[in-house]
Amino acid sequence: MAIHLRSAEELEKMHRAGLIVYEVLTALRSAVKPGMTTMDLEKLTEEKIAWQPGHAAFKGYRGYPCMLCTSVNSEIVHGIPSPRRRLREGDIVSIDFGMEVDGYYADSAVTVPLGKIRPEVQKLLDVTRESLDRAIDKMRSGNRLGDVGHAVQSWVEENGFSVVREFVGHGIGTRMHDEPNLPNYGEEGRGPRLQEGMVIAIEPMVNAGRPEVRMRGEWVAETADGSPSAHFEHTVAVTANGPWILTRPREVTGPSW
Ligand code: MF3
Ligand code: CO
Repeated sequence: MAIHLRSAEELEKMHRAGLIVYEVLTALRSAVKPGMTTMDLEKLTEEKIAWQPGHAAFKGYRGYPCMLCTSVNSEIVHGIPSPRRRLREGDIVSIDFGMEVDGYYADSAVTVPLGKIRPEVQKLLDVTRESLDRAIDKMRSGNRLGDVGHAVQSWVEENGFSVVREFVGHGIGTRMHDEPNLPNYGEEGRGPRLQEGMVIAIEPMVNAGRPEVRMRGEWVAETADGSPSAHFEHTVAVTANGPWILTRPREVTGPSW
């Protein structure tokens, strides 16, 4: 199976979905406060997109029950919003959201601190976000997919953290999960060559401790050792002008999150 190459028109459609995703995530990022529950975030999202075109991509996907994934502290990904999960000062929460508009998808995530967090946890957020920036910078035609995964892994491991193996970034377009898979590890110069029009959701999942995952039920992945985990994601296109982050407005520049 080949990796899809998206036309300029298709990229604009994905950007439309991506701008809604960005609007929701930036609103949630500023709204989230100690004392709120993760279900409060889900409700805010429902309100935010009620009058927007398209639909939330996760709800109903393989039976997933919500619009958001909200993964707290040692939860890595796919935490399910709950009225019983109250956020407290010192927690971190990964908020993951996707939209489908006019047949095209966009997917993004940000990990947010609640109030004051421990310095080691702040470092985990900084290193994970920077690993995403470094990976995005590799999204240039002529590079190889392995260069992207390597950029994440090398930065994370140099900083004493570990990358999760069981979940990966992914091609995205007319389906949320398309070819290719993008592991958060890799070797430079290996894998398919990147070409203009390729679009990948890059999503480093980084554990402060060991890389192993433990499943809690069907969906929730948490660190086996209970250490905190961070997750940042953007949908990124390879273009003639370099990487294009489809999940934010063009006028926003600088660090990915
Ligand atoms: N960003 C996540 C992913 O790429 C979202 C999927 S959650 C699901 O896998 F519920 F939709 F599966
Ligand atoms: Co994704």
